[in-house]
Amino acid sequence: MIIDGKAVAARVRAEVGEQVRALAARGVVTGLTVVRVGDDPASAVYVRGKRKACEEVGIRSVEHHLPATTTQAELLELVARLDADPTCHGILVQLPLPPQIDERAVLEAIAPAKDADGFHPFNVGCLWTGAPAPRACTPFGVMRLVDEVGLDLEGKRALVIGRSNIVGKPMAAMLLERHATVTIAHSRTADLEGEVARADLVVAAVGRAEIVRGRWIKPGAVVIDVGMNRRADGKLVGDVEFAAAAERASAITPVPGGVGPMTIAMLLANTAALAARSAG
Ligand code: GUN
Repeated sequence: MIIDGKAVAARVRAEVGEQVRALAARGVVTGLTVVRVGDDPASAVYVRGKRKACEEVGIRSVEHHLPATTTQAELLELVARLDADPTCHGILVQLPLPPQIDERAVLEAIAPAKDADGFHPFNVGCLWTGAPAPRACTPFGVMRLVDEVGLDLEGKRALVIGRSNIVGKPMAAMLLERHATVTIAHSRTADLEGEVARADLVVAAVGRAEIVRGRWIKPGAVVIDVGMNRRADGKLVGDVEFAAAAERASAITPVPGGVGPMTIAMLLANTAALAARSAG
């Protein structure tokens, strides 16, 4: 089974659209503010995609595009203004930030109740301690895909490959919450093949083209590929060798069209939840 992330994302967007309309009926216009600093081309593409998705579900999106020379104090001043702005329910500062800006200081300045990305350390702490809070969009979307497949994680071996703050670490927390036995592998893992061969669920998020060989996959395992890599021949591929893995997996996400569409859908879901909470 090939997991259709586009179709699942469309369903999530439809649900969010309903929530946003219900809020609008109570006089609340759900608002997401996106802050972009500098001219990273990938960030420009991502932000355009996020804003377009907002529009489609009725979320009002506002973008602040600041020059690459912006100082940390200037950015913190903007974040403080957004924290105090009642029409802004969610704040997203697109990463990466220019080198003169301390990313951690900026993420910590965003009010946890407006943290659309779920990156604030307070919200990360909520995730690890089981309290409701906005959650990092990509792993949140992966959980939705796992649920679509009907995989019951209790007692299963889940392998997360990658330990970033944005994907790997929050992914592990969400799988643990579902009672999986979780392993986090990374660039210094001694025997990646052995770890993969044991796993009932593999979530690959390292950003290395086809590093997970298809023949390593345990027959019947579920494979979720978060990677997006440009191969030397120009082809866009994931972290998993797709064709060979698909022959062994019971379900697998394609690249593109798997996890990618889910990330933005879950950002919309986070934003609508923040607006609903602020509206009581
Ligand atoms: N840069 C790459 N991924 C992300 C993300 O999910 N959120 C933000 N804010 N920046 C990113």
